[in-house]
Formats: sequence, C-alpha cells, structure tokens
Amino acid sequence: MNDTKFSQAQVSAVLGTQWGDEGKGKLVDILAEGADIIIRAAGGANAGHTIYVPKKDNPEDTTKFIFHLIPSGCFHEGKEIVLGNGLVIHLGTLIEELDTLKDHGIDPTGKMFISDRAHIVFDYHKKIDGLEEERKGEKKVGTTLRGIGPAYQDKIARRGVRIGEMLEFEKFSEHVRATFIALQRMYPDLKHDIDKELEEMRKMLGFLRPFIIDTALYINNAIDDGRKVLVEGANGTHLDIDHGTYPFVTSSNPTGGGLHTGTGIGLNKITDVIGIMKAYTTRVGAGVFPTELDNELGETIREKGGEYGATTGRPRRCGWFDAVVGRYAVRINGHTAINLTKLDVLDELPHIKICTGYKYKGKPLNSMPATIDQYEDLELEYIEMDGWIKDTSKAQTFEDLPENAQKYVLKIEELIGCPIKYIGVGQRRDQMIFR
Ligand code: IMP
Repeated sequence: MNDTKFSQAQVSAVLGTQWGDEGKGKLVDILAEGADIIIRAAGGANAGHTIYVPKKDNPEDTTKFIFHLIPSGCFHEGKEIVLGNGLVIHLGTLIEELDTLKDHGIDPTGKMFISDRAHIVFDYHKKIDGLEEERKGEKKVGTTLRGIGPAYQDKIARRGVRIGEMLEFEKFSEHVRATFIALQRMYPDLKHDIDKELEEMRKMLGFLRPFIIDTALYINNAIDDGRKVLVEGANGTHLDIDHGTYPFVTSSNPTGGGLHTGTGIGLNKITDVIGIMKAYTTRVGAGVFPTELDNELGETIREKGGEYGATTGRPRRCGWFDAVVGRYAVRINGHTAINLTKLDVLDELPHIKICTGYKYKGKPLNSMPATIDQYEDLELEYIEMDGWIKDTSKAQTFEDLPENAQKYVLKIEELIGCPIKYIGVGQRRDQMIFR
C-alpha cells in the first residue's frame, strides 16, 4: 500500500460519527500500518471492533476477529498498543482477548501497555448494569450489560478503583471491599462473591503486572521522540454522555475531547481527526433514531450490511443517512477528513434518501435537539437520489464508482461540510478508495 495514503500527521485519531458500529476497525487497521503506537482512549468492552485479517495461505480470504478492548491495530507486527486512562477495563475480558492474539502468534509482551489510571470493571458492575436496566423498565437504555455505566458511575463518584492500585494488592483489596459494601447498600438485590472475584484478580495480577504503567507519560515521551501515534475511538459521537442523545447514550466521551482526557495527549498534538461515517445509519439499543426504517427496506439493509451487534449480536436498527447527525459530529469533533463506509451495501437500491434537516414545531433546527421529548415533534426533510444498481465492491478509485454513487458521496460531503477522503466498498482491507 502506498505510504502517501496514510495519515501524514504525527498524531491522528479515528472517531465514530453516528451511534457506533460505523466500521472504525477497518480504517484503524489500515492506518495502523503507518503508526508506531495505537491507543484506545475511552469506553470499555461495550465496543466491538470487527476486523477481517487476510489469511496467510490465501489473502483473498479473511478471518474475522472481534475485539472489545484491544485496539484494532493489534495484528500488525512491531506495533505497540496502549489502553489509555479513559477506559474502564474488565480484566478477564482483556486476558481472553490476549489469549486470542497469542493463539495467532502475537505475543503482547513489551508491546502492550495498560494505564495505571484506567478504572476496573468488576463483575459486580455487570450485575449492577442489569439491575439498573431492570429498574428503568420500559425506559431502559438497552446497554451492552458490560458494566460500563456502573464503572464510570463509581469513577465519577470518586469511589472507583484504578488498575494501578492492584500493584499493592492488600490495600487494593481493602478499597474494593469498602466500595463493594457501599454499593450493596445502594443495591440491596446485588448478590456477589467479592472474595472469589478478588482471588481471581490476584491470579491475573501475576500476568498483568508488567503491562501496567503511566501511559500518558509513555505516549508523550514517544511523541517527543517523533514516533507516530494513532488514537482509536470507540462507540460513537451520538452515544457521548455530553453530546449524544442523552439519556440513551454510553457513560463516556467518545467525541473529540475524550481523545485528550482519555490519553493525556495535549490539545495541540492531535492534528488529524478522521470521522467514520456509514453511508446509511444504524443504531443498536434503545433511543431516538430519526431516519430509522422500521420496515422491509430497513431489513434489506440490515441483511446486506450484516448489521448485527459485534458485542451483543442484537440486530441493529437501520435507516437513511442523516446529514444533521453527520454535520453535528463534524462540528463537535473537528474532523479533518471523513471515511464513508459500506457504500456497497446500497448497491441494489433504486432510490436512496438523505435527511438534510430537522424542523421542530415547524421551525428549522440548526443542531440536534437537547432533550428526547423534542424528537417527538420533529419533522424530517429529505432529498431523494437515484441509486446506481451496480456493484461497487471492486472499485479502486473514485472514478471507478458509478456516476450516481459518486453523486451520492459528493452530496454527503457537501451536506456535512468535510472532505470524504476514504470510501469503504467491502470488508477487506483493500476494498477502500483513497481520494
Ligand atoms: P453501554 O455503553 O453498555 O452502557 O450502553 C449504552 C448504549 O450505548 C446502548 O444503547 C448500547 O447499545 C450503546 N453502545 C455502547 N457501545 C456501543 C458500540 O460500540 N456500538 C454501538 N452501540 C454501542
């Protein structure tokens, strides 16, 4: 692959611009080739990054991998991977993923670093996640039940447990027990064997100890030494706790700011921020979705796009491309470029709609509504474009795309106000057009 295709910035980032599942893993995997260090900044095992790695004996064929914690760049030889301080990490899940890597001949020793400031997701957090969802009843968020919300809740309430504490295991155990007792008071239905979990963690520590460091210091030193860094976002802009469709969001900041707080990289350093935007829209879990196609067409897109949650296997809700959602992400994240993904999924549709604007009680809105109730009175404005009814999966350049597909891409670019520099037309690494 031509080097000039890679992000030229020393520190670049990839972020989801919709409700997650935009296909970030593929671009990260491609860009990782040109990076020295790949970092995850926020979220936890709620994310599901799918990558298709070419088989050694037959590169046309691929093996599918889904990672929840480890950055998607992990399959490249000689790269370092970092789990930043903004993450909440379930250590059992991490060890399972490391085992998968080892089974494929990749040894993380000396190549992977875990922030001593990242917070731990305990098994009791997963149970609390379930209890909270039960309590909410019909208003439940539809979380991934990975304990993400409860772990961030503890972090913000200043009773959470940082991974670095494990290094002094006795003090760590005392802190965990005290936190657990406090949580039991809040959740009387919480049943959990904390001694058993602590015993398992003691065993894990033997393996994890060498990986736990001050990653912010490590990364900044690496940047000072001129090494190239790629920060991999998780989840998506509209799942952001501040900027998303609250309360149907995750509990972290998957937007631009989270890249900095979640890694310790200074604001002046991340100069290339690529947004991943699916050529249509999907959402998994509950919550507003203005352009949703809750019909046969939505199902057609789901089947063609393989739209089933990588973490939970749940069918993803599908809908038309929403330029309001896209513009909002470009504004909030300060994107320098966009990767439009899965264009090929639309190949067989005779007509394709794009939502260009929202009206609230008859008045045009210039942003996303702040409250969920407002979505009930939203009117959507659409344009309709002719489809291309041709296979785009073999296109290598923008000019190879059918004319109507080019028009569709250019229309989206105009509406969101950011250059589309990468276009995905299939699952494989080589099915990516660079403009
Ligand atoms: P949580 O992050 O498990 O608390 O889930 C909160 C909401 O975010 C739910 O609607 C999830 O389905 C959604 N969510 C969290 N992470 C992802 C992701 O990586 N992709 C898509 N949806 C996600």
